[in-house]
Amino acid sequence: MIPLRRLLSPRSLTSLYQRFCARTQASLTCLHNEPSLPSQLGAPNCRSFLYTPTCRKSTNVKVKEVEISLEEALPLSQDSMKLIWNDGSDHIFNYLWLRDNCKCSLCVDRKSKQKLLDTPAIPLNLMPEVFEINQEDNSLNVTWPASQQSGERHFSQYDSNWLHRHGCRVSDQYFHPHKHTDVSSPIHLWNRDIIEKHLPTIEYRDVMGSDEGLFRWLSGLYGYGVALIKNAPVEEETVLSVGQRISYVKETNYGVLFDVVALPQNAEHLAYTGDGLPHHTDLNYKEKSPGVQILHCLHSSGAEPEEGLSLFVDGFYVAESLRKQNYAAFQVLSSVPVEFKVAYKENTYKHHVQIICLDNSGHMEEIHINNRTMGPLHAPLHLVKLFYSAYKSLTNKIREESSELKFQLQQGDVVAFNNRRVLHGRTGYNPRTVHRHLQGCYIEYDEFLSKLQSLENRSLSIHSTTGVSNSDSILYP
Ligand code: OGA
Ligand code: ZN
Ligand code: ZN
Repeated sequence: MIPLRRLLSPRSLTSLYQRFCARTQASLTCLHNEPSLPSQLGAPNCRSFLYTPTCRKSTNVKVKEVEISLEEALPLSQDSMKLIWNDGSDHIFNYLWLRDNCKCSLCVDRKSKQKLLDTPAIPLNLMPEVFEINQEDNSLNVTWPASQQSGERHFSQYDSNWLHRHGCRVSDQYFHPHKHTDVSSPIHLWNRDIIEKHLPTIEYRDVMGSDEGLFRWLSGLYGYGVALIKNAPVEEETVLSVGQRISYVKETNYGVLFDVVALPQNAEHLAYTGDGLPHHTDLNYKEKSPGVQILHCLHSSGAEPEEGLSLFVDGFYVAESLRKQNYAAFQVLSSVPVEFKVAYKENTYKHHVQIICLDNSGHMEEIHINNRTMGPLHAPLHLVKLFYSAYKSLTNKIREESSELKFQLQQGDVVAFNNRRVLHGRTGYNPRTVHRHLQGCYIEYDEFLSKLQSLENRSLSIHSTTGVSNSDSILYP
């Protein structure tokens, strides 16, 4: 095996390091001897460098892929190399990660695209023998040393665009699970003023009749967490056909399809009365609550103006403003798990989850809130009052009129929302004078994402016009 430092002379290594440090404003420290002296970088017996990159602000908005080419590939330490692209960006790649992501036909099955390489078999001290940029193919070629098992060298080729897309993920300071959706539509946070102008609204025949219509519905739903379909047939089970435009419908303990209608005798659930339902997310007591909820209005008649109105609030928007105004409250609600619990027929369901769920980098992933099914708080004594105070602050924000979208669902309306982001509810009505009947179903969030992504990949986004770009919206993050 040829040690990396022999690929370049100490002098050229030093000058390369200085160039990329200047370009990225990073600092590089030699761990071998006296730190920080450029003349010692690349000293013949020194193979350990501590590289401190500048912190880049991460962005969740994926820019449509443009052809980008590799300019330089530099050894960085015994663990990693640095790649620099023609747009000035650079990323660090760990050698194990690179070897593990070889796309050759020995490592990945051509047909199923599933991995054949046995990741744990990669030697932990693996370094490339040679690597170089292949200008013709716009790729990085790496030759790995002969393995003990086969006695043969391994050759990997990495596409430049692929590396560029994945580079930020491996070199970011934190792991960003939310980035792992490859959906490129932006996420817009909203309050009443914003959503009243931009509520994604589409005709039933467009959603059902064309993939372009389906794409507009789903990208609106992704961006705003809520979207309205108009003029669906007023027929039972229509909600299932709408859900099946995305994927299979997720069955729960309430069935494949559920009816929300007042049953004056024997209402097993507050939803089956005329009572108002405060803003909530559904089924927090399940191990994983459903990602998308769809409600189809079959009847809404006889209501006074304020009766039986549907309510929606962007949980991400209110939690984000809580984070700005009362960070302590935000901290409590994002760290103390709450027990959600329900007894339904012979079963009891119970799940512990935070009201505000964050990923490792502090981005909001999910909101879980439902006062009706929240069990006793199990928290250390010193947190109990803090929790109640934080819960009150968040609830006050949710209940502000300026947070809330409020409207009467009409017969033939279908409203879909992200049940782990957007809270829903209704005002009360008199079931003796109002005939109100909704049918609902749930779809798994990953099914929704994968459908949206496959439509995006077919470039349907180019033709889309549904409220995804607007000047007064708040992009997240
Ligand atoms: C529910 C619910 C909404 C409505 O059943 O959980 O929120 O408008 N219903 O009746
Ligand atoms: Zn391979
Ligand atoms: Zn509900």
